[in-house]
Amino acid sequence: MSNRTFAIIKPDAVKAGNTGKIYDRILSAGFNILSAKLIKMTIDQAKGFYAVHAERPFYGELTEFMSSGQSMVLALEKENAVLAWRDTIGATNPDEAAEGTIRKDFATSIGENAVHGSDSDENAKIEIGFFFTESELIANH
Ligand code: CMP
Repeated sequence: MSNRTFAIIKPDAVKAGNTGKIYDRILSAGFNILSAKLIKMTIDQAKGFYAVHAERPFYGELTEFMSSGQSMVLALEKENAVLAWRDTIGATNPDEAAEGTIRKDFATSIGENAVHGSDSDENAKIEIGFFFTESELIANH
């Protein structure tokens, strides 16, 4: 079990002015933020990041959307971080997300679903490494 996960506050949520509210949810849920940066993904970064979905019908839509505006990428730390963050954000489809989860409160559709979270420890390591160098990850304890 790893204590790190990777998160994105997606372009829909940044555009809607929800970055601060979601940042607050992250802290309220007990995560340490090891690193965070506001970026605008290039189409190539989006395609690389979501390469596992390359064969899916929604890949084009997904990568266009993820490179359409500012997003915030974050490396998060907490005990059992992957599961803890997935519980905090809720189901991929906001219609299926539990009450009180970030996607229930901020997502508008399965494509524009406010936030991303790694689905495994292995992918968390890969995804953190996609956007951060090890020296950018700062433990505050
Ligand atoms: P995320 O957790 O970032 O991981 C992959 C993303 O693909 C997912 O959130 C959704 O935003 C997106 N996605 C999954 N299924 C669909 C779909 N059926 N249509 C459009 N986008 C989808």
